[in-house]
Amino acid sequence: MGRENFGSKLGAILAAAGSAVGLGNVWRFPIETGQNGGAAFIIIYVLCILVLGLPIMISEFLIGRHTHANTVGAYRILSNGTPWKWVGRLGVFTGWFILCYYVVVGGWTMQYTFLSVTNAFYDVPATQYTNVFNNFVSSPWLPTLWLFIFIGVIHYVITRGVQSGIEKSAKLMMPTLFIITLFLAVCSVCLPGASKGIEFLLKPDWSKVDSTTVLDAMGQAFFSLSLGMGCLCTYASYFDKKTPLAKSAVNVSFIDTFIAIMAGFIIFPSVFNIGMDPNEVGAGAGLTFVSLPNVFQQAFGNGSILAVVFSSLFYFLLFVAALTSAISLHEVATAYVTEEFNMSRKKGATLVTLTILVLGTLCSLSFGPLSGLTLFDRNIFEIFDDLSGRILLPLSGMLISIFAGWVLDRQLYRDEISNGGDLKTPYFKMLIISLRYVAPLAIGLVFLDQLGLFEFMK
Ligand code: PHE
Repeated sequence: MGRENFGSKLGAILAAAGSAVGLGNVWRFPIETGQNGGAAFIIIYVLCILVLGLPIMISEFLIGRHTHANTVGAYRILSNGTPWKWVGRLGVFTGWFILCYYVVVGGWTMQYTFLSVTNAFYDVPATQYTNVFNNFVSSPWLPTLWLFIFIGVIHYVITRGVQSGIEKSAKLMMPTLFIITLFLAVCSVCLPGASKGIEFLLKPDWSKVDSTTVLDAMGQAFFSLSLGMGCLCTYASYFDKKTPLAKSAVNVSFIDTFIAIMAGFIIFPSVFNIGMDPNEVGAGAGLTFVSLPNVFQQAFGNGSILAVVFSSLFYFLLFVAALTSAISLHEVATAYVTEEFNMSRKKGATLVTLTILVLGTLCSLSFGPLSGLTLFDRNIFEIFDDLSGRILLPLSGMLISIFAGWVLDRQLYRDEISNGGDLKTPYFKMLIISLRYVAPLAIGLVFLDQLGLFEFMK
């Protein structure tokens, strides 16, 4: 069976960047930055990317491209019959698991785009946005309908294949995302009082930095770069032999960080414009679906054309960001099923889609009819979110770095990142040091912290 590759280097980078740029860039990074010392946090975050993110991203790229196989196959090939083959399985499982709840939020972004376009937020009192959101997510049908549409779009792209599906859509969606982001940031920065928002986001305040900040930055860098769940490994298995791995990783990290900072420029000037306390806007879904629709209405004029355009574009941006990430997660599972069980792409993708439809629906309904179904006080959606974010992701990341640093053949590593000796690799030693010692230790700390087993220096 012939295996497709990406048609161009640009396509490859845009697809990987599409995986990285997602909800995390908008609903976590800006607020974490603002609350954790502004530019001080950004500097720590960038250091985490350099020391931790890049080495692991390069390793995932390398493992994928060297084997030209799905993530399970890739680790099986490289582990020579040792139990290290389980790292690939863990990665695929983690990606699939994340997808089950990620698609639910993808559906929400569509509903909010729809509400914005139809000017449904006109004259909604500030206190009512929580109800609007709660009524929507707890209703049995509407979120499920959007969920199905969102999954339908992913399925369509995936079944079209690597070049005409994933690459083509990334080439269309990533520039769109880029332009919308810049447009929204400029609009927001032009609001009266915007400078206070920019100050909140950027003014370095080292007094707010402690060990927890560093752990947060590491965790955020990891999630935001889509590490640890086979996405980058799978996409890199479609890279051709000439794609420069380290340079591609730098590009992807740069795009991801740039969009995350721009998201801050979109959010905080508007928040300050209406005189809202930035510490009260919340994070995650609360920020995105409760605080921000209100902020946008007030900042740009309740029901005005500008408010409609701004709000619609913002939720459309979120939709695109979530979609490209979800596509990469789906592809991890599809490549696995297709190659390991010798199925056609269509069959493999359909199988994956069906499982996501079922589990995604359960996650979606856990805010409504199934809200009584809980474990340790967490509903189904939250269990998926917790298990993947707190346990599966850090565990998988730690194992990947140990595998790349200690198990993978050193010569093979050098050959791959230098493209068979064509490229200079002065950073090679540092890369290996990070993979062997720094990354496993650092991610291990994040892991313990996430589990709450260990309250770092408190
Ligand atoms: N990186 C994506 C984000 O920032 C999330 C994601 C995680 C996507 C894991 C794919 C895999 O939201």
